[in-house]
Amino acid sequence: MCGIVGYIGKKQVAPLLVDGLKKLEYRGYDSAGIAVYNEGAIAIRKFKGRLSVLEDYLENEKINGSLGIGHTRWATHGEPNDINAHPHTNNAGDIAVVHNGIIENYMKLKEWLISQGKIFKTDTDTEVIAHLIDYYYKNDLVEAIRSAVQKMEGAYAIGVISKNSPDKLIAVRKDSPLVVGIGEGENYIASDIPAILKHTRRVYFLEDDEMAILSENNIEIFNELGQKVEKEVFEVTWDIEAAEKGGYQHFMMKEIHEQPKAIRDTLSPRLNENNEIELNEIKLSKEELEKINKVTIVACGTASYAGLVGRYAIEKFARIPAELDIASEFRYRDPFVDDKTLFIAISQSGETADTLAALREAKSKGAMVLAITNVVGSRISREADNVFYTWAGPEIAVASTKAYITQMLAMYMIALDLGRKKGTISKEDCNEIIEELKLLPQKAEEIIENDQIIQELADKQFNNQSVFYTGRGIDDCVAKEGSLKLKEISYIHSEAIAAGEFKHGTIALIEEGTLVFALITQDQLFDKMLSNIKEVKARGAYVVAIAKAGNREIEKSADKVIYIPDTLDVLTPMLSVIQMQLFAYYVAIARGCDVDKPKNLAKSVTVE
Ligand code: G6P
Repeated sequence: MCGIVGYIGKKQVAPLLVDGLKKLEYRGYDSAGIAVYNEGAIAIRKFKGRLSVLEDYLENEKINGSLGIGHTRWATHGEPNDINAHPHTNNAGDIAVVHNGIIENYMKLKEWLISQGKIFKTDTDTEVIAHLIDYYYKNDLVEAIRSAVQKMEGAYAIGVISKNSPDKLIAVRKDSPLVVGIGEGENYIASDIPAILKHTRRVYFLEDDEMAILSENNIEIFNELGQKVEKEVFEVTWDIEAAEKGGYQHFMMKEIHEQPKAIRDTLSPRLNENNEIELNEIKLSKEELEKINKVTIVACGTASYAGLVGRYAIEKFARIPAELDIASEFRYRDPFVDDKTLFIAISQSGETADTLAALREAKSKGAMVLAITNVVGSRISREADNVFYTWAGPEIAVASTKAYITQMLAMYMIALDLGRKKGTISKEDCNEIIEELKLLPQKAEEIIENDQIIQELADKQFNNQSVFYTGRGIDDCVAKEGSLKLKEISYIHSEAIAAGEFKHGTIALIEEGTLVFALITQDQLFDKMLSNIKEVKARGAYVVAIAKAGNREIEKSADKVIYIPDTLDVLTPMLSVIQMQLFAYYVAIARGCDVDKPKNLAKSVTVE
């Protein structure tokens, strides 16, 4: 979840690396550094804190050179400080390494390297890589790196430069993303495309255990066995503007505004001329479909809350028993998964380590694996049998918004598709839902354009110690995401609790003025939910209800009502979540928080 960028060519590399790192800063931002080769030496500059610290330093002290690597860090091993920041070097300082991921056997390697006379300066796992390469170095950097990676267990994407091979930039990856950018008279490496998109649209995706050797005019890629591999060039079709703020103060706000488009882009290409859902990407034969006796959905964080809505939709429309598991826990209960299971992994980035590990476990047990992801070419997309891409575009803010909404949409569409094929939902009912799905972008726009009510609420309620979210049925599923959004970016303690469960413990925390968001969008559950609202109000809670437009009854019981446009009960999460995203955003702003880069969090978590 750190960011890597590297360059070999003729340009001044230091500003180019910093510029690339800026596009990756969302991946990790507790320290940043660069290593630049120039006239027989490698200069390293690295600092704790945001990238701007490094940038300011380089403004005043220029570093010359046209070969270099840069890194922005999200600490795993060793506290965020100058010393632990990347790049790391061997003792002579002539080999520099940047690394994403975790070297799991680093303690063993470290002890051994110390016994071989290497002196460690940092607490990081990455430093072992530099010493290992040094240990194996016998006038051939490529061979030394090859030997070093054979000793390394865990996940890594690394970039290496050496004083003794000033005509080479070398990269290797395993379970951590890395791309090679193809230029003219210059070449690049990066952990993510936006870092180099300004310079080239032509990239190679490195596969596990592949090594790329870059020089100014050449790129060679080798597999684990040292055999040369021919790779296809991938042409990036999206623009850098798509990954920039486009006039908004924050990526998160931009991405909230992009939700109507994301819904349209994900939905429209999958509707045929008869207005039926056609998921060409999911190739399940009739026999396979008939065989499915269970759906297991696995994901982390926000994606897992989309999975909760998905579980509900699958059971409702396709009448198949469905379960949702947190990816980090899935493997530890020896899950019941076999060739009759449809396993769905949901992941915005497609790189989340726990989700990937769960997917592999399910695959090894014979399950049919379907991935819902936003990133083409991501690890998860490549390992799944079938992929449903959410066409949300690059999501930069750490707090997921547009990816979440399209993940829910994906789940609705998959559930309807399965339901139609199994005959568990009628054509008429399915059509009614599709018609309503088509109206959602417009209804989402309506909410976003009228956000002053929620902004006013946030301006009054930003100082709470604790905020609770509650609901019944599908409202409970989406309440969890509302609560997570608030915690993530405003640092206010928050919990989501099923409305009926409140009185079994959590209600003890309600006191005069405690803010409770009560989602009450389900007609059938209205009366029961109303009773739950009364229970917390009787203990002093300030209740903000989220209800469907037209439902005035609730105004008698709640302190404030936030309306969403009327829609089918089953689809209300697609709208109610937007109100909760906006609330979290405005609260975070009122509290002066760094919305796009919340403390302690990272966009993509590629360690278990
Ligand atoms: C991190 C992000 C969350 C995200 C989760 C899963 O924790 O901060 O926003 O929901 O990872 O990520 P994925 O890419 O698998 O959806």
